[in-house]
Amino acid sequence: MDPEAKKKALRKILHGVCVIGVKEGDRLNAFTATWISQVSFQPPLVVLAVRKDSLSYSMIEASKVFVINLLGAGEKPLAQHFLKPGHLGGDKFQGVRYRLGKVGAPILEEGIAFVECEVRRIDPGGDHAVVIGEVVEAGVHRDAEPLSLKETGWQYGG
Ligand SMILES: Cc1cc2nc3c(=O)[nH]c(=O)nc-3n(C[C@H](O)[C@H](O)[C@H](O)COP(=O)(O)O)c2cc1C
Repeated sequence: MDPEAKKKALRKILHGVCVIGVKEGDRLNAFTATWISQVSFQPPLVVLAVRKDSLSYSMIEASKVFVINLLGAGEKPLAQHFLKPGHLGGDKFQGVRYRLGKVGAPILEEGIAFVECEVRRIDPGGDHAVVIGEVVEAGVHRDAEPLSLKETGWQYGG
């Protein structure tokens, strides 16, 4: 396989950018993610690829819940904020307005919509684990275009 072709081809997959809210006991965290998709209508399932060396992965493994916060066009600064690895310490929620949803994970007040999920299965995958969640609650804050990976100018994939 030509590694350059593999990288270029995989980067042709269209992606949005969202913030995944997680919890473990009383501890909250969130991280920016792009490898997400719906994978079933009935039951409503979504799939998420989560870095196994991230703080959020251990939290999802423990609590078996997460919330997908969909960001709107123009909300790159919010996505940038949640790129910071939780292992570095500090409170990622300082100055960020949020509430706890049905599954107890943080729902951002910014963003355009949210999807709350209970984990049904985790496949170890590779450097990212494949987490399948069932949608148990959802809501829309405002009807706006989602933030695309293209708009951010970032790359994640290849
Ligand atoms: C554009 C972009 C997209 C990303 N998408 C994902 C993703 O889909 N899954 C993931 O686990 N990490 C993704 N990351 C990396 C996480 O945001 C990053 O590892 C973060 O620090 C994890 O936070 P945590 O350690 O507090 O959990 C992405 C990073 C960038 C720059």
